[in-house]
Amino acid sequence: MKTMSKITLGLFTASLLFVGCGDNAAPATEDTVKPTISEASLGLRKTNLYTEAAETIGDTTQYSTNAAGSGKTLKRAFQDAPPMIPHDVNGMLPITLSNNACTSCHSPETAPSMGALPYPPSHMTDFRPATGIAADGKITKNGTEVDNTSSPKLEYVSIKKLNHLSGARYSCTLCHAPQSADVNVPKNNFEAVYSEINGAEKSSWSGTKLMEGIDTIK
Ligand code: HEC
Ligand code: HEC
Repeated sequence: MKTMSKITLGLFTASLLFVGCGDNAAPATEDTVKPTISEASLGLRKTNLYTEAAETIGDTTQYSTNAAGSGKTLKRAFQDAPPMIPHDVNGMLPITLSNNACTSCHSPETAPSMGALPYPPSHMTDFRPATGIAADGKITKNGTEVDNTSSPKLEYVSIKKLNHLSGARYSCTLCHAPQSADVNVPKNNFEAVYSEINGAEKSSWSGTKLMEGIDTIK
Protein backbone atom coordinates (compact mmCIF):
# COMPACT_ATOMS: atom_id res chain seq x y z
CA MET A 1 0.00 0.00 0.00
CA LYS A 2 1.35 3.40 -0.90
CA THR A 3 2.14 5.83 1.89
CA MET A 4 -0.47 8.38 0.85
CA SER A 5 -3.28 5.88 0.88
CA LYS A 6 -2.02 4.63 4.24
CA ILE A 7 -2.23 8.16 5.60
CA THR A 8 -5.64 8.74 4.04
CA LEU A 9 -6.83 5.41 5.36
CA GLY A 10 -5.51 6.29 8.82
CA LEU A 11 -7.28 9.65 8.81
CA PHE A 12 -10.46 8.09 7.49
CA THR A 13 -10.39 5.36 10.10
CA ALA A 14 -9.71 7.92 12.82
CA SER A 15 -12.67 10.03 11.74
CA LEU A 16 -14.88 6.96 11.56
CA LEU A 17 -13.87 6.04 15.10
CA PHE A 18 -14.57 9.60 16.19
CA VAL A 19 -18.02 10.02 14.69
CA GLY A 20 -18.97 6.39 14.64
CA CYS A 21 -18.27 5.49 18.25
CA GLY A 22 -20.98 3.21 19.50
CA ASP A 23 -22.65 3.04 16.11
CA ASN A 24 -20.97 -0.23 15.17
CA ALA A 25 -19.59 1.48 12.05
CA ALA A 26 -17.94 -0.98 9.68
CA PRO A 27 -14.13 -0.62 9.72
CA ALA A 28 -12.76 1.00 6.57
CA THR A 29 -10.80 -1.22 4.23
CA GLU A 30 -8.39 -0.32 1.46
CA ASP A 31 -11.15 -1.00 -1.06
CA THR A 32 -13.51 1.53 0.43
CA VAL A 33 -10.91 4.33 0.74
CA LYS A 34 -9.57 5.94 -2.42
CA PRO A 35 -6.80 8.50 -2.01
CA THR A 36 -8.10 11.87 -3.15
CA ILE A 37 -4.67 13.47 -3.69
CA SER A 38 -2.08 11.65 -5.72
CA GLU A 39 1.43 11.50 -4.32
CA ALA A 40 2.93 12.66 -7.59
CA SER A 41 0.91 15.88 -7.47
CA LEU A 42 2.48 16.85 -4.13
CA GLY A 43 6.03 17.34 -5.36
CA LEU A 44 7.50 19.72 -7.90
CA ARG A 45 8.26 16.98 -10.40
CA LYS A 46 4.66 15.74 -10.84
CA THR A 47 5.78 12.29 -11.93
CA ASN A 48 5.87 8.89 -10.23
CA LEU A 49 8.02 9.17 -7.11
CA TYR A 50 9.14 5.54 -7.14
CA THR A 51 10.91 5.40 -10.50
CA GLU A 52 13.21 7.63 -12.49
CA ALA A 53 11.19 7.14 -15.64
CA ALA A 54 11.98 8.90 -18.89
CA GLU A 55 9.24 11.46 -18.32
CA THR A 56 11.05 12.66 -15.20
CA ILE A 57 13.36 15.22 -16.76
CA GLY A 58 14.56 18.58 -15.50
CA ASP A 59 13.39 21.79 -17.12
CA THR A 60 15.73 23.18 -19.74
CA THR A 61 17.97 25.96 -18.60
CA GLN A 62 20.34 28.35 -20.28
CA TYR A 63 23.52 29.18 -18.41
CA SER A 64 25.22 32.48 -19.17
CA THR A 65 27.57 32.34 -22.14
CA ASN A 66 29.01 35.78 -21.39
CA ALA A 67 32.76 35.60 -20.96
CA ALA A 68 34.02 36.80 -17.57
CA GLY A 69 34.20 40.57 -17.88
CA SER A 70 30.95 40.93 -19.81
CA GLY A 71 28.54 39.28 -17.38
CA LYS A 72 25.61 41.12 -15.81
CA THR A 73 25.49 40.72 -12.05
CA LEU A 74 22.15 40.08 -10.36
CA LYS A 75 20.99 41.71 -7.15
CA ARG A 76 21.94 39.67 -4.10
CA ALA A 77 19.00 37.55 -2.91
CA PHE A 78 19.24 39.18 0.54
CA GLN A 79 21.84 41.05 2.57
CA ASP A 80 25.10 39.04 2.44
CA ALA A 81 23.70 36.25 0.29
CA PRO A 82 26.30 34.59 -1.94
CA PRO A 83 26.17 36.29 -5.37
CA MET A 84 25.33 34.19 -8.41
CA ILE A 85 28.05 33.75 -11.03
CA PRO A 86 27.19 36.09 -13.94
CA HIS A 87 29.66 34.65 -16.46
CA ASP A 88 30.38 31.46 -18.33
CA VAL A 89 32.16 28.85 -16.19
CA ASN A 90 32.95 26.55 -19.09
CA GLY A 91 36.46 25.20 -18.72
CA MET A 92 36.68 26.39 -15.08
CA LEU A 93 34.99 23.36 -13.53
CA PRO A 94 35.49 21.09 -11.80
CA ILE A 95 37.65 22.88 -9.26
CA THR A 96 40.48 20.56 -8.30
CA LEU A 97 43.39 20.70 -5.89
CA SER A 98 45.76 21.77 -8.63
CA ASN A 99 43.36 23.92 -10.64
CA ASN A 100 41.08 26.65 -9.30
CA ALA A 101 40.46 29.20 -12.08
CA CYS A 102 38.16 31.24 -9.82
CA THR A 103 40.99 32.29 -7.53
CA SER A 104 43.10 33.46 -10.47
CA CYS A 105 40.60 36.32 -11.03
CA HIS A 106 38.90 36.71 -7.64
CA SER A 107 41.82 36.75 -5.17
CA PRO A 108 42.41 40.17 -3.60
CA GLU A 109 45.77 40.35 -5.46
CA THR A 110 44.38 39.74 -8.95
CA ALA A 111 40.75 40.95 -8.82
CA PRO A 112 41.31 44.71 -9.33
CA SER A 113 43.25 44.17 -12.54
CA MET A 114 40.61 41.70 -13.80
CA GLY A 115 37.67 44.03 -13.09
CA ALA A 116 36.26 41.42 -10.68
CA LEU A 117 35.23 41.64 -7.03
CA PRO A 118 37.76 40.01 -4.72
CA TYR A 119 36.42 37.28 -2.48
CA PRO A 120 35.46 38.99 0.80
CA PRO A 121 37.11 38.88 4.27
CA SER A 122 34.85 36.02 5.40
CA HIS A 123 36.58 33.80 2.84
CA MET A 124 39.91 34.46 4.53
CA THR A 125 38.63 33.57 7.99
CA ASP A 126 38.76 30.21 9.70
CA PHE A 127 35.59 29.55 11.72
CA ARG A 128 36.54 26.05 12.72
CA PRO A 129 37.99 25.22 16.14
CA ALA A 130 40.90 22.79 16.23
CA THR A 131 39.15 19.47 16.81
CA GLY A 132 40.73 16.39 18.36
CA ILE A 133 40.05 13.33 20.48
CA ALA A 134 41.30 13.18 24.06
CA ALA A 135 42.77 10.07 25.68
CA ASP A 136 39.39 9.32 27.29
CA GLY A 137 37.79 9.32 23.83
CA LYS A 138 35.98 12.65 24.27
CA ILE A 139 36.05 15.23 21.51
CA THR A 140 38.13 18.33 22.14
CA LYS A 141 37.53 21.76 20.62
CA ASN A 142 40.47 24.13 20.91
CA GLY A 143 41.88 21.85 23.62
CA THR A 144 38.69 21.81 25.74
CA GLU A 145 36.81 18.54 26.14
CA VAL A 146 33.19 18.91 25.09
CA ASP A 147 30.17 16.69 25.69
CA ASN A 148 28.07 18.09 22.88
CA THR A 149 29.71 19.34 19.69
CA SER A 150 26.61 21.04 18.39
CA SER A 151 26.06 23.76 20.94
CA PRO A 152 23.15 26.03 19.99
CA LYS A 153 25.12 29.02 21.25
CA LEU A 154 27.99 28.16 18.89
CA GLU A 155 30.41 28.78 21.71
CA TYR A 156 32.98 26.48 20.11
CA VAL A 157 33.16 28.53 16.94
CA SER A 158 36.57 30.11 16.89
CA ILE A 159 37.22 32.94 14.53
CA LYS A 160 40.75 33.23 13.22
CA LYS A 161 41.82 35.68 10.54
CA LEU A 162 43.95 34.08 7.84
CA ASN A 163 46.15 35.80 5.29
CA HIS A 164 44.96 33.42 2.59
CA LEU A 165 41.78 31.76 1.30
CA SER A 166 40.27 29.39 3.88
CA GLY A 167 40.19 25.76 2.79
CA ALA A 168 36.47 25.74 3.63
CA ARG A 169 35.92 28.27 0.81
CA TYR A 170 38.14 26.64 -1.77
CA SER A 171 35.35 24.97 -3.71
CA CYS A 172 33.52 28.15 -4.77
CA THR A 173 30.65 26.40 -6.52
CA LEU A 174 29.48 24.82 -3.25
CA CYS A 175 27.84 28.17 -2.60
CA HIS A 176 28.05 30.23 -5.81
CA ALA A 177 25.90 28.92 -8.65
CA PRO A 178 25.92 30.19 -12.22
CA GLN A 179 22.94 32.31 -13.27
CA SER A 180 20.54 30.53 -15.59
CA ALA A 181 17.67 31.74 -17.74
CA ASP A 182 14.48 30.11 -19.04
CA VAL A 183 13.97 28.15 -15.87
CA ASN A 184 10.44 27.14 -15.04
CA VAL A 185 10.55 27.57 -11.27
CA PRO A 186 7.73 28.43 -8.89
CA LYS A 187 7.24 32.17 -8.47
CA ASN A 188 9.17 33.62 -5.60
CA ASN A 189 7.47 36.48 -3.79
CA PHE A 190 10.34 37.10 -1.38
CA GLU A 191 11.55 40.68 -1.46
CA ALA A 192 14.90 41.46 0.04
CA VAL A 193 15.20 44.32 2.50
CA TYR A 194 18.90 45.16 2.57
CA SER A 195 20.36 46.44 5.82
CA GLU A 196 23.16 48.27 3.98
CA ILE A 197 22.75 50.92 1.28
CA ASN A 198 24.72 48.91 -1.27
CA GLY A 199 23.57 45.52 0.07
CA ALA A 200 22.18 44.48 -3.33
CA GLU A 201 25.66 44.37 -4.86
CA LYS A 202 28.18 44.21 -2.03
CA SER A 203 28.75 41.99 0.95
CA SER A 204 29.07 43.69 4.35
CA TRP A 205 29.80 40.59 6.40
CA SER A 206 33.17 41.39 7.95
CA GLY A 207 34.76 42.86 11.07
CA THR A 208 32.54 42.78 14.15
CA LYS A 209 29.57 41.57 12.06
CA LEU A 210 31.21 38.13 11.95
CA MET A 211 30.72 37.82 15.71
CA GLU A 212 27.09 38.94 15.89
CA GLY A 213 24.88 36.45 17.73
CA ILE A 214 27.78 34.15 18.54
CA ASP A 215 28.98 33.47 22.11
CA THR A 216 32.60 32.60 21.62
CA ILE A 217 34.69 31.23 24.46
CA LYS A 218 37.96 31.51 22.51
C1 HEC B 1 38.92 35.44 -16.20
C2 HEC B 1 38.61 35.97 -14.90
C3 HEC B 1 37.53 35.29 -14.08
C4 HEC B 1 37.46 33.96 -13.73
C5 HEC B 1 38.40 32.83 -14.11
C6 HEC B 1 36.30 33.84 -12.87
N1 HEC B 1 35.68 35.04 -12.73
FE1 HEC B 1 34.01 35.44 -11.65
N2 HEC B 1 33.98 37.33 -12.34
C7 HEC B 1 34.92 37.91 -13.16
C8 HEC B 1 34.51 39.27 -13.51
C9 HEC B 1 35.29 40.22 -14.40
C10 HEC B 1 33.27 39.49 -12.86
C11 HEC B 1 32.39 40.76 -12.91
C12 HEC B 1 31.14 40.47 -13.72
C13 HEC B 1 31.49 40.14 -15.13
O1 HEC B 1 32.06 41.01 -15.78
O2 HEC B 1 31.21 39.01 -15.57
C14 HEC B 1 32.97 38.27 -12.14
C15 HEC B 1 31.85 38.08 -11.35
C16 HEC B 1 31.67 37.00 -10.49
C17 HEC B 1 30.66 36.91 -9.47
C18 HEC B 1 29.56 37.93 -9.19
C19 HEC B 1 29.91 38.91 -8.11
C20 HEC B 1 28.79 39.89 -7.93
O3 HEC B 1 29.10 40.99 -7.49
O4 HEC B 1 27.63 39.59 -8.18
C21 HEC B 1 30.81 35.71 -8.85
C22 HEC B 1 30.00 35.14 -7.71
C23 HEC B 1 31.92 35.04 -9.48
N3 HEC B 1 32.41 35.85 -10.48
C24 HEC B 1 32.38 33.79 -9.13
C25 HEC B 1 33.32 33.08 -9.86
C26 HEC B 1 33.60 31.68 -9.68
C27 HEC B 1 32.96 30.81 -8.63
C28 HEC B 1 34.56 31.36 -10.57
C29 HEC B 1 35.14 29.99 -10.85
C30 HEC B 1 34.20 28.97 -11.27
C31 HEC B 1 34.90 32.56 -11.32
N4 HEC B 1 34.10 33.57 -10.88
C32 HEC B 1 35.88 32.64 -12.29
C33 HEC B 1 36.09 37.31 -13.58
C34 HEC B 1 36.39 35.96 -13.45
C1 HEC C 1 30.68 28.20 2.09
C2 HEC C 1 30.07 29.00 1.03
C3 HEC C 1 30.97 29.79 0.12
C4 HEC C 1 32.07 29.35 -0.58
C5 HEC C 1 32.67 27.95 -0.62
C6 HEC C 1 32.55 30.49 -1.34
N1 HEC C 1 31.75 31.57 -1.09
FE1 HEC C 1 31.93 33.43 -1.89
N2 HEC C 1 30.43 34.12 -0.72
C7 HEC C 1 29.66 33.36 0.12
C8 HEC C 1 28.75 34.21 0.85
C9 HEC C 1 27.72 33.75 1.88
C10 HEC C 1 29.00 35.54 0.42
C11 HEC C 1 28.36 36.83 0.93
C12 HEC C 1 28.69 37.05 2.41
C13 HEC C 1 30.16 37.15 2.70
O1 HEC C 1 30.78 38.18 2.40
O2 HEC C 1 30.72 36.18 3.21
C14 HEC C 1 30.05 35.44 -0.59
C15 HEC C 1 30.55 36.51 -1.29
C16 HEC C 1 31.44 36.42 -2.35
C17 HEC C 1 31.79 37.51 -3.25
C18 HEC C 1 31.24 38.94 -3.17
C19 HEC C 1 32.16 39.83 -2.36
C20 HEC C 1 31.63 41.21 -2.10
O3 HEC C 1 32.44 42.04 -1.69
O4 HEC C 1 30.45 41.49 -2.26
C21 HEC C 1 32.68 37.01 -4.15
C22 HEC C 1 33.36 37.77 -5.28
C23 HEC C 1 32.90 35.61 -3.82
N3 HEC C 1 32.13 35.28 -2.73
C24 HEC C 1 33.74 34.76 -4.51
C25 HEC C 1 34.03 33.45 -4.11
C26 HEC C 1 35.05 32.63 -4.72
C27 HEC C 1 35.92 33.04 -5.90
C28 HEC C 1 35.06 31.45 -4.04
C29 HEC C 1 36.00 30.26 -4.23
C30 HEC C 1 37.44 30.57 -4.13
C31 HEC C 1 34.01 31.51 -3.03
N4 HEC C 1 33.42 32.76 -3.10
C32 HEC C 1 33.66 30.47 -2.16
C33 HEC C 1 29.73 31.99 0.28
C34 HEC C 1 30.77 31.20 -0.22
